[in-house]
Amino acid sequence: MNSRKSTDHFSGSREELGFASRAIHRGLDWCEETGAVVPPVYLTSTFRRGNPGGFDYTRSGNPNFRNLEQTLADLEGARFSTVFSSGVAAITAVIASLKSGDVVLAEENIYGCTFRLFREVFEKFGVRIRYLDFTNALNFSRIVEERPVLVWIESPTNPLLKVIDIEQVALWSHRAGAALLVDNTFASSYLQQPLALGASLSLFSTTKYTGGHSDCLGGAVCTNWPVWQERLQFAQKALGLNPAPLDVWLVQRGLKTLAIRMRQHSENALALARYLRECPWVQHVYYPHLDSHPQFALATRQMKLGSGIIAAELRLSFEQTLQLLGSLRLFTLAESLGGVESLVCHPATMTHAAVPPDVRARVGISDTLVRFSVGIEDAEDLQADLETAARSVKQLQPGAVEQRVRSEY
Ligand SMILES: Cc1ncc(COP(=O)(O)O)c(C=O)c1O
Repeated sequence: MNSRKSTDHFSGSREELGFASRAIHRGLDWCEETGAVVPPVYLTSTFRRGNPGGFDYTRSGNPNFRNLEQTLADLEGARFSTVFSSGVAAITAVIASLKSGDVVLAEENIYGCTFRLFREVFEKFGVRIRYLDFTNALNFSRIVEERPVLVWIESPTNPLLKVIDIEQVALWSHRAGAALLVDNTFASSYLQQPLALGASLSLFSTTKYTGGHSDCLGGAVCTNWPVWQERLQFAQKALGLNPAPLDVWLVQRGLKTLAIRMRQHSENALALARYLRECPWVQHVYYPHLDSHPQFALATRQMKLGSGIIAAELRLSFEQTLQLLGSLRLFTLAESLGGVESLVCHPATMTHAAVPPDVRARVGISDTLVRFSVGIEDAEDLQADLETAARSVKQLQPGAVEQRVRSEY
């Protein structure tokens, strides 16, 4: 929600409507004059000066942005939201608000392009990034010692699905005088509400679950802090990080089904995680809502359900791993996640290729780790796809792989 006047016809208390209703009805302030049920795409770069909506130029705002910002702020329980051209643009907006010498304390397992942006862009401008394993509570005192201005976590993390105690990290961050940012991309606004748990900023790639159809790019940051909102709105226009109106329209359309999609992603992923842990060619399954996951109790407390992402360490060679991924039919081998269609990716050569091999090895991203984004197809079809692909892997006929020691988490 930006500072412009809102004519939202659902300006009543948000407690009155549930998440799915708000996802569909909030932010409908385009329709007063025409009665259109679906908003137009405002394909205009500029606006007549002095218009009642306060718009001037699409780099600094557009009716489509305003509608989406209102809906996202509402769904994240935030006062404000700012939309960007991608998740990476949203990350850029936050870090570009810092100054040389500022310290950011980040979780050591983060999305590869976030790591690359920190290391290859912002460190050059003097922002100092330090890394920590935030699943180890013994490390929390470092949050005070390092004197960060910003603490940066993902939960669950990409790709290892570590679950971080947002409430605890928020307490320590605020004690240190730092803001806490949670990258909420893997959970989505439906499954997890970082601001209610004490985070200062909730950032997410709307390319993923929010849009949900792999047809557009976007990012957003939600906050209750006016000072951060000012910085983010400034970054949107001053750095040219604004999205395109059509992409924003597509995200808004996708968002209407977020609740129902997430429930199906979750149901399918839990079924597949259970299946995978019985497969002899799988060494470990990483899925926070399996009771064998080390942060299962935290995950069930902090998130409404599990999301659609599963990671698995395979009991195969590197070549067999690639062969398996190439043999899948319903799981497309591709970057990205969070769409209705199932995808699979090989983090070491794809999403996390920009992370140096020694760092990958230290945090646990091996050459035989795969990441599934489980879609909303029929779960039995997805399981059959995995079974067929596994059978097609050379030298992986029954009995060729010794029985696995069960150690999934
Ligand atoms: C956790 C996380 N944050 C941010 C991003 C960046 O989003 P985008 O691809 O929209 O720039 C991604 C992309 O995969 C991601 O996984």
